[in-house]
This record gives sequence, C-alpha cells and structure tokens, in this order.
Amino acid sequence: MAAHGDILRKKVLLWCLGLFVLVHLSAAQSTEKKLYIVYMGSNNLPDAEITTSNHHNLLASVLGSAGTAKTAIVHSYKHGLNGFSALLTETEAAQISAMRGVVSAFPSVSYSLQTTRTWDYMGINLDGNGPWTSTDFGKDTIVATIDTGVWPEHESFDDTAMGPIPQKWNGECEAGLSTPKFQCNKKLIGARYFSAGYEAMWGKMNVSDPTVTVSPRDIEGHGTHTTTTLGGSRTRNVSFQGTLGTGTARGGAANSRLVSYKVCWPGSCQTADIVAAFDMAIHDGVDVIAISLGASSVDYFYDSIAIGSFHAMERGILVVAAGGNSGPDKATVINGAPWILTAAASSIDREYLSDIHLGNNVTYSGPSLNTERIAPKSYPIVDAGDIPAFNTTSDDARLCGEDSLDAEKVKGSIVVCAPGDMFGIYYPEVEVHAKGGVATIIIDEDLKSFAQVFHQPAVTVVSQGVGNHILAYINKTRNPMAMMTPSLMHLGAPAPLAATFSSRGPNSVTPDIFKPDLTAPGVSILAGWSPAASPSEDPSDTRAFGYNILSGTSMSTPHVAGAAALVKAAHPGWSPAAIKSALMTTAKPPDSQHKQNSDGGLAWGSGHIDPKEALDPGLVYNTTFAEYNTFLCSMNYTDDQIRVITGNMTSNMRCPTAKLPANNLNYPSIAAVNFTKPITVVRTVTNVGAPESVYKVEVHHPSGIHVSVRPKTLKFSNEKKVLSYAVTLSPTRTQPWRENWVFGALIWNDDSHRVRTPIAVGPKMSSPFL
Ligand SMILES: *[C@@H]1O[C@H](CO)[C@@H](O)[C@H](O)[C@H]1NC(C)=O
Ligand SMILES: *[C@@H]1O[C@H](CO)[C@@H](O)[C@H](O)[C@H]1NC(C)=O
Ligand SMILES: *[C@@H]1O[C@H](CO)[C@@H](O)[C@H](O)[C@H]1NC(C)=O
Ligand SMILES: *[C@@H]1O[C@H](CO)[C@@H](O)[C@H](O)[C@H]1NC(C)=O
Ligand SMILES: *[C@@H]1O[C@H](CO)[C@@H](O)[C@H](O)[C@H]1NC(C)=O
Ligand SMILES: *[C@@H]1O[C@H](CO)[C@@H](O)[C@H](O)[C@H]1NC(C)=O
Ligand SMILES: *[C@@H]1O[C@H](CO)[C@@H](O)[C@H](O)[C@H]1NC(C)=O
Ligand SMILES: *[C@@H]1O[C@H](CO)[C@@H](O)[C@H](O)[C@H]1NC(C)=O
Ligand SMILES: *[C@@H]1O[C@H](CO)[C@@H](O)[C@H](O)[C@H]1NC(C)=O
Repeated sequence: MAAHGDILRKKVLLWCLGLFVLVHLSAAQSTEKKLYIVYMGSNNLPDAEITTSNHHNLLASVLGSAGTAKTAIVHSYKHGLNGFSALLTETEAAQISAMRGVVSAFPSVSYSLQTTRTWDYMGINLDGNGPWTSTDFGKDTIVATIDTGVWPEHESFDDTAMGPIPQKWNGECEAGLSTPKFQCNKKLIGARYFSAGYEAMWGKMNVSDPTVTVSPRDIEGHGTHTTTTLGGSRTRNVSFQGTLGTGTARGGAANSRLVSYKVCWPGSCQTADIVAAFDMAIHDGVDVIAISLGASSVDYFYDSIAIGSFHAMERGILVVAAGGNSGPDKATVINGAPWILTAAASSIDREYLSDIHLGNNVTYSGPSLNTERIAPKSYPIVDAGDIPAFNTTSDDARLCGEDSLDAEKVKGSIVVCAPGDMFGIYYPEVEVHAKGGVATIIIDEDLKSFAQVFHQPAVTVVSQGVGNHILAYINKTRNPMAMMTPSLMHLGAPAPLAATFSSRGPNSVTPDIFKPDLTAPGVSILAGWSPAASPSEDPSDTRAFGYNILSGTSMSTPHVAGAAALVKAAHPGWSPAAIKSALMTTAKPPDSQHKQNSDGGLAWGSGHIDPKEALDPGLVYNTTFAEYNTFLCSMNYTDDQIRVITGNMTSNMRCPTAKLPANNLNYPSIAAVNFTKPITVVRTVTNVGAPESVYKVEVHHPSGIHVSVRPKTLKFSNEKKVLSYAVTLSPTRTQPWRENWVFGALIWNDDSHRVRTPIAVGPKMSSPFL
C-alpha cells in the first residue's frame, strides 16, 4: 500500500514539475521559434497523404528545404480539416499567413480545464427521471471527450450490457505506454492521445520513467469525471468517500459508446494538440463531442475549438463546449461560435454543508466537502492574521500559505484564513493541518457558492459579512471557541440557480449571437475519478478516490452533450443545428422568483436543459451552409477566405455589399446589440412534429421593446414543412436597454409543444473582433 502511495505521490509531483518546466521554457523560447497553428480551411482531398505532402511543400517554400520543413512540422491536420502546426518564427508565420489558401496562422497556446480550482478540471451527472433512465436512447451513438484522458478500469466503463461496437466506428484504441496496459472495451470503444504539440513546447516526455504516462490514461481526474458524466454505465450505490452524495451514478447517455481524446499533459493542454484531436475525431466517426476546455474569446478562425467545431459541424457532429468559469462578470463567456452549443452551469437541489457553532451560540454554515472527521467538541478559534510565523507579516499569515503560521499558536485550534485570490494556489487547510491545527475556516472573497473538496477538515464561508462576524467574535472575546460539524448532504436547496462562477454573456466576438446557449448542472457534481489523481488538487493529497465531486462549466458540458446524444439517437438524421435547436427551444427559462437569477438571460441563455422535452421539440431552427456563409461575411471574412474555410471552391457565393448583422443567422435565439432603432430579423422553422400542425405565437416583450411577429400563425402540412416568419423589434418610450440588457421571448404554441425563442436586446457595445 505504501509503495502504491509513493507512486501516486511521484505522479502528482511530476504534474507540478510540468508546470514548473512550462514557466521556465516559455521565458526561454519566446524570442526563438514558437509553435504555430496554420489553418487552411476544409480538407477536400481524398488522400490524407496528399494533404500532408502539400503541407510539406508549402512549408518548404518558406523554410527553404523539404528536410527543414519535415522536421518543423509537429502535426499535419489532414482528415476533418486542413492545416498543420509547426515551429516557426514570427516572420515565417506572417509570411505563411499571407499565402493563398491559408486562412490564419496563430500561436498554439495552453487551454485550461473549466473546473473551479486552479488547475481547472471538469465533469457532470444528472439525477431524476426521464430519458436518462427510462429509455434505451443513446444506444450506439458515439460520444467523445477531448480532455485529460480516462481511467479505463473505472467501473463506469463496464461493458457487460453492451452489444457489438457500431460498424461506423473508424477509430482506434491507442494503448501507448502505461502500466497496466490501457485497454478499451465495448463501452469505451476508443482512445487516442495527442502530445506532439506539448512535447514541441516543453521537450520529450521520459518514456522510461514509470511514472510518466504516455497513453490515454488519466492521471489528472478531470477527463474521467467528464467522460463518466457524459456516458458512464450505471453504477449503483456509489458515494464520495462513503458518506456524501450516495446514489446511483450514471452518465447522461448511459447506453452510448465512449471515446477519449487526451490532449492535456502535466501543466498544459496545447491548442495544436486540440486541433489534432478534432481532426481525428471527425475521421473516427463520432456523433457528439464534449470539450470542457478553453481560454478567452478570440476571432473564430484563430480559435482552435471554433475551427475544430466548424468542421465537425460540416460532417454532422455536434460539439458542446464549456462557456467558462469567469462569472459573474458580463461578457466573459467563451467558446461562443454559433456552430458550438455553449454550456453554462447551474446548481442542483443538493448542497454539502458544514456548520460552525461559535462560543456565543451563533451558528453559521458553509459549503464544504470534508470527509475527515474531527471530534465534536469545542476548540479554541484563532484568526490566522494574529499568529504569523516569526518571519511572516500578519497580512501574509491571513493567506495561510506554506509556512506562514506559528505552529505553537495553531496547535489544537480552528484557524480562520482569508486567502482571497490566492485560494487554489495555496492550500490553507494543508498549512493549518501541518502546524497541528484541528480545522480551517476559509473566507472566500470570490463568493463562490460551491463546495470544495478538502484534504483536511475545512469549511468555506462564502460571505465576507459572515467572515467579519467570526473575526469580530474572535477579536472581542477572551477565550473564543468554536465547534465544526462534518459535511452533510442537504437536499431541497432552491435550484436551479445560476452558478456564480459561470461565465456570462453577451458574446464578445459576435454579440448578436446570444451566448451561453443554455445551462445544465455544474455545481457539486459526483462522477468518476482517476485514483492516480489528487482528489482535492492538493499535490500532497494522495488519497485514491474512485469518485469525486467537482464544480464548473466543465461539469455542465458533458450533461448537455449526453442530452444531445439522446436526441441524436432518437433522430439520427438531424443536423447538429437541429439537435441544438431542440435542446434550446425546450430549455426551461430562469425562474424569476430566485433573486440570483436576475441576470438570467446573460447567465442562462435559453434556460435549463430538459432532455425529455428535447426529444419532441415540435419545430426546429435548422441552419444551412449558405446561412453560415452569410454569417462569415458579417464577420468580415472575404469571399475567398470563406471558400477556403467551407471548402466549396466552386461556390459562386458573394458577400452582400451591405453587411448584414450576425443576428440574421437562423439561430434559436434572437439578440440585438447596439439597439437604437427598429430592426427586423427573419427566422425559418422546420416542422418535425405532426405534419398538419398549426402554431400560434405568444409574445413576451422585453422591457422597453415592442415585438411584432408576422405571420402570427404558422400552418404546416405534408407539403409545407418549412415556414418563415419575421420579427420586428421597436423601441417604446422607456428605453432601459440603453443601459442594461433586457429579455423577452416568443413562443410558438400548437397546444402540445411550446417552442420558446428568447429575445435579448442590449446597449452599445464595441467588439474588438469586428
Ligand atoms: C528517464 O527516466 C529514467 C527512469 O526513471 C531515468 O533513469 C532517466 O534518468 C530519465 N531520463 C531523463 C533524461 O530524465
Ligand atoms: C451501499 O454502500 C454502503 C457503504 O458504502 C453500505 O453500507 C451499504 O450496505 C450499501 N448498500 C447497498 C444497497 O449495497
Ligand atoms: C449558549 O447556549 C447554552 C445552552 O442553550 C447556554 O447554556 C449558554 O449559556 C449559552 N451561551 C451564551 C454565551 O449565550
Ligand atoms: C520562515 O520560517 C520557517 C520556520 O523556520 C521556515 O521553514 C520557512 O522557510 C521561512 N519562510 C521564509 C519565507 O523565509
Ligand atoms: C480588533 O479590535 C480592535 C479594537 O476594537 C480594532 O482596532 C481592530 O481593528 C480589530 N481587528 C479586527 C481584525 O477586527
Ligand atoms: C437540416 O438541414 C440539413 C442539411 O441542410 C438536413 O440534412 C436536415 O435534414 C435538415 N433537417 C433537420 C431536422 O435536421
Ligand atoms: C470590417 O469591414 C468593414 C466594412 O467593410 C470595415 O469598415 C471594417 O474596418 C472591417 N473591420 C475589420 C476589423 O477588418
Ligand atoms: C457549393 O457552392 C455551389 C454554388 O454556390 C452550391 O450549389 C453548392 O450547394 C455548394 N456546396 C456545398 C457543399 O455547400
Ligand atoms: C456597435 O457599435 C460600435 C460603435 O458604435 C461598433 O464599434 C461595434 O462594432 C458595433 N457592434 C456590433 C455588433 O455591431
């Protein structure tokens, strides 16, 4: 057991070392060659080898020789899209980006996992009734994560109930080097890993070191969490350390087949590797991709996830991506291209809380996932700021960083720390424990309303007001005392509420495309975990857990992708746009009685997913390639660039001379930024319900806007499956939208379906990307 523990510890250290090396090399290499992604649009050539040789020729023309070109190329993207990544100087990259057929050339950067602590991981798991349990849907759809890999022996990948692997699967199980050997089965049907970009940046991984895992095996935890959330088999009576969150764990699409594409390595997920994963996933024949990674918003064809998703969409694959964890500030949402389904995160009715009883009989409770028991009695409580180590200031001691506290005064006490922005870099509970403290109370100024997994007894106090009360009690009491209860699961919390951390709209790249699209559970989600990973993200925490509880848009993303897989299984012929529309128009809008939901539209998009309703949406907003062309024109791409991006070189499309705003795209929501005068947009809906349906419109006007819809009735028939309507938004006398976003909706109702299309109108906003 000890030996096993040592191996785990080494792996965790290695992960840290990766981070360390990363910081150093990036400084050293910045003047030299950098890793660039050269994006060349669609791949029309039938033979991948011809595409690769084109890449060599193009690069040779800049670098001078075929030999240099061959060694400079890191990845050749040759299946689902066209392009390559290579080590180039800035000048060389500029030269290449000006060449015909090249859309863009941009440096590979590192994306983060979209969980809520430092290294940002993700995952998901939906409870309740509905299609998740009651149907066989999801069967034979192939769903994939692009993430940190998976732990293939996890019980969630049990394949006893699965039939033969679907014929359309065209991928592989790349075992790589891992002990035990990485093996796939009929549930986890494929896995690949992409490390060439990472190694080009940070050097070759040492394959003879047994703790290096050059394989799809997950030693980080995040990928196992997201993948089991997306489509794990049912596993009964699982829990977080036997006490918290006991229940049946199951993936959103429990009968689907899973594929894992690993792109994250200790300390870095390189975008050059992410593009390679998309290229391969398109080749392999997956139906839905969940990606819980991202950074900030950039122009879509300089953004690896937007590029990969565009070509996935062209091949009928829906991509669901995390909207980011930079809320509650506005305009922080990422992964907002219109061909992506962008997921926000919200709470479920389950909370994990610990109580703090102070000596003055006042009790506070705070979120905590703390399974290490402390004796239920009163202990002295101290303010960390009052007990600095001899070489530390009071302010630094408050942060409770490594070696900041005086062991003499910590011993036997409960310590109050206020790590602020440093939370997640330091582990206050670890310092307190190391100095002989009993437990830690962490005042989290970010007001993050989710429970953290703690290695040692700890609780977070999410309101600065409560934190001040506790500090004041300590300050003015002679022998301040406190008692702390272990964490307990509480059901029945008001839910769903928008998670504070969940990134908000509007979409800073194309604000006329409303983002995020919808929300799903992303707070305190129980799902599978890699036993090689630290459950609390504290590197010294070597406990091996099979399940873990995480929060983030990383966790909501696979919930949404699981729901998308169910819709795809029920309607195999539907386009990604139609599946997305089904999920969006049936989503439940925010409940206005919950105060936290006042920024509803910006936090939730269309609302909270309702997978059962999405199976029968009545009408869908489909999006044609021609409409995407017009959208790209609105983004200032030229006719030539659009031909390269879409791969339709024979196309005679021309961008309209008068640029149409992006909100003319046939999208399942309507947004208008810079609103001052009446505008009209047209939407087209396809009837996917009973052929003779008649829909009537119901309008909820946003404050200060009059919405008129023409026609007010849509009569479908066997001949008329597709109908259009026009929506005119006009200002009324009061004009609140000059300052703030205002929200409304139009609902098409046929007495058995309510097809809801949100309307968002916003003030003047300049985009750096338009
Ligand atoms: C690679 O790992 C092996 C085994 O741990 C070790 O002996 C060797 O020194 C390592 N090589 C490098 C370059 O670090
Ligand atoms: C569930 O697990 C707990 C311990 O983790 C055990 O005590 C209990 O008997 C199990 N229940 C069932 C139904 O297996
Ligand atoms: C706290 O409550 C207990 C029991 O109700 C009581 O005995 C004690 O005096 C109270 N202490 C204070 C400080 O109010
Ligand atoms: C402060 O003192 C402690 C205990 O002597 C020592 O371990 C630590 O490294 C010192 N920290 C700094 C920043 O000098
Ligand atoms: C503690 O009380 C003193 C005197 O009332 C006050 O000056 C000081 O700011 C207080 N400190 C804290 C941390 O509340
Ligand atoms: C949507 O459009 C695609 C391609 O334009 C087409 O294949 C599909 O049948 C259409 N309808 C639905 C419901 O997906
Ligand atoms: C986009 O196109 C418009 C109209 O042609 C032009 O005025 C504007 O400068 C362009 N913006 C960028 C960023 O190229
Ligand atoms: C390519 O462009 C032509 C002419 O504009 C058009 O008819 C055709 O449908 C396009 N093909 C695709 C795959 O978009
Ligand atoms: C809104 O107006 C500003 C300046 O008036 C302009 O820079 C920006 O591009 C406009 N945004 C959109 C989405 O049209």
